[in-house]
Amino acid sequence: MPEFVGAIDQGTTSTRFMIFDHDGAEVAKYQLEHEQILPRAGWVEHNPIEIWTRTSAVIQSTLQRSGLQASDLAAMGITNQRETTVVWNPRTGRPYYNAIVWQDTRTDRIAAALERDGRGQVIRDKTGLRPEAYFSGGKIQWILENVDGVREAVDRGEAVFGNTDTWVLWNLTGGVNGGVHVTDVTNASRTMLMDLDTLDWDDELLSFFGIPRRMLPEIRPSSDPAGYGVSSVAGLASGEVPITAILGDQQAATVGQVCFSPGEAKNTYGTGNFLLLNTGTTPVRSKSGLLTTVAYKFGDQPAVFALEGSIAVTGSAVQWLRDQLHIITSAAQSETLARQVEDNGGIYFVPAFSGLFAPYWRADARGAIVGLSRYNTDAHLARATLESICYQSRDVVEAMQQDSGVVLDVLKVDGGVTANDLCMQLQSDILGVPVSRPVVSETTALGAAYAAGLAVGFWRDTDELRAHWAQDRRWEPTWTKDQREKAYAGWKKAITKAFDWSE
Ligand code: G3P
Repeated sequence: MPEFVGAIDQGTTSTRFMIFDHDGAEVAKYQLEHEQILPRAGWVEHNPIEIWTRTSAVIQSTLQRSGLQASDLAAMGITNQRETTVVWNPRTGRPYYNAIVWQDTRTDRIAAALERDGRGQVIRDKTGLRPEAYFSGGKIQWILENVDGVREAVDRGEAVFGNTDTWVLWNLTGGVNGGVHVTDVTNASRTMLMDLDTLDWDDELLSFFGIPRRMLPEIRPSSDPAGYGVSSVAGLASGEVPITAILGDQQAATVGQVCFSPGEAKNTYGTGNFLLLNTGTTPVRSKSGLLTTVAYKFGDQPAVFALEGSIAVTGSAVQWLRDQLHIITSAAQSETLARQVEDNGGIYFVPAFSGLFAPYWRADARGAIVGLSRYNTDAHLARATLESICYQSRDVVEAMQQDSGVVLDVLKVDGGVTANDLCMQLQSDILGVPVSRPVVSETTALGAAYAAGLAVGFWRDTDELRAHWAQDRRWEPTWTKDQREKAYAGWKKAITKAFDWSE
C-alpha cells in the first residue's frame, strides 16, 4: 500500500494540493491564487480555465517539490468552494461563462421571487436551505437565461453544470476524453435542487429554476470505495491515482476536525466563516437562521447532517483592507496594526459586502462603518475588522445554541485567519468560551484526504482518525461579563445600520 494520501483544495481565492501521511501529518503542499473578477458591484466571477490550470499546476509542483510520485498516493480527495457555478461544453471543454462565485449577488431577484409565491417554503422543507442568491440553483438559471445558446446546447447534451469539485474532477479524469461528471451529496446539498430525504435531484425543485436534469452531475457519497475515476493528469505519469472523496470545503473541515459525533462543531475562518454542528443522521431544521446541510456520507453508511452558520465576509474583509484601502500590505499586518490600539475606539465595521448571511439573511444589507470620530485611525479600523469576524461568529453561535440546545464549552477553529493571534484572543473574549486550534490547521484538505483514505482502507475507521487530533494552541477569555455584553450590544446596534442599502 502506498504511504500517502493527496487532497486538492479548490478554494475561493486559491487552489492547493496537499499530501498527508498515515498519522494525518502534512508532508507537502503547494498553492496558487487565482484572479477575482469583479465586473460590477455585487458580481464575483472566476475563470474556470484558470482554476483548472492552477489545479493541475499545484498537483505537479507538490509532487516535484516533495520528490514523491503519483504511485506514492493511495488515493486522492477533492474539496472545494461550494455553490460556485460552472456550465461548460463537455465536447470542447470550454465554459460558456465565467464561474459565478458563491458571493455573487446578481441573482437576488430570482431568490426574492421564489420567496414571494410560496416556492420558498418548498425549498426550505426539501433542501434545508432558504431561497438565497448564495446557492447554485439561481446561478444556473441566470446562465441559462442570459448566455446565448446555452439552453439549446443543454438539449443537445452540450452543456453541463458542476460546482468546482465537478469541474476539477471532470478535467482530472480526462476532460473531453471521457471525463467523469459526478458530484457528492455535500455539494449537491448547496444547490437548492437536492431533496435531503432522497439525496437526489428533485423534479419540482428543478422546475422552479427551469433546469433540465440532464445537465446535472450524478450524486455520489462523499467517500466512495467504488471511486469516481482515476486521475489522468499529464505529469502524474508514474501512476494513476484513484479519486475516492469529494466534500464541500466546510464539510471537509468538519471531517478534518473529527466532528464525528452529534454535538461536535468547528468554525473555519477563510474568505468567510462557516460554523458547522454535527446533528447526526436526522436533519435538524433551524428556527434561528441557520441552514440544514449534509455533513458527509461515507460509502453506504447513512448520511450525517449538520446545522450550518454561514458568514459571507470575514477573511475577505482583511483582504479588502489590503487590496482596496491599502492600509496594510499583508493579511498578517492587520494584527500588527490592530495591536497599536487598546480597543476599537468606539467604531464597528459591518462588512456586509454580499449582504448578510446567517443568521440575518439580509440581501439588502451593505457594508457600514459606524461610530467614527476624528480620533479614529487606521489602527481602529483594523481592530474593528478583526472584531467583526468574531462578532459575526458570536451571532451564529447564539443561533446554534438556540436551535440545538448544545452549549459549546470550547470552540474548535481552523483556517487562515486562525494564524492571527489577536483575532483568536478577541474571539474567545467576545464569546466567553475557550478557542482551540489543532496542530494541522489545514483541516479542509485533511478532511478530504481522510475521506479518500477511508474509502481505500488506508485508514480503518473514524476512531483511528480521532486519535490524530491534537491541540496546538488554546485561547481563554479575559474580558469580564459586563465588558463582553456591552461590546456585543454595540455590535447588535451597528448591524441594523447596514440594512436596507441595496437598490
Ligand atoms: O460556501 C462557500 C464556502 O464553501 C467557501 O469557502 O474557504 O473558499 O472561503 P472558502
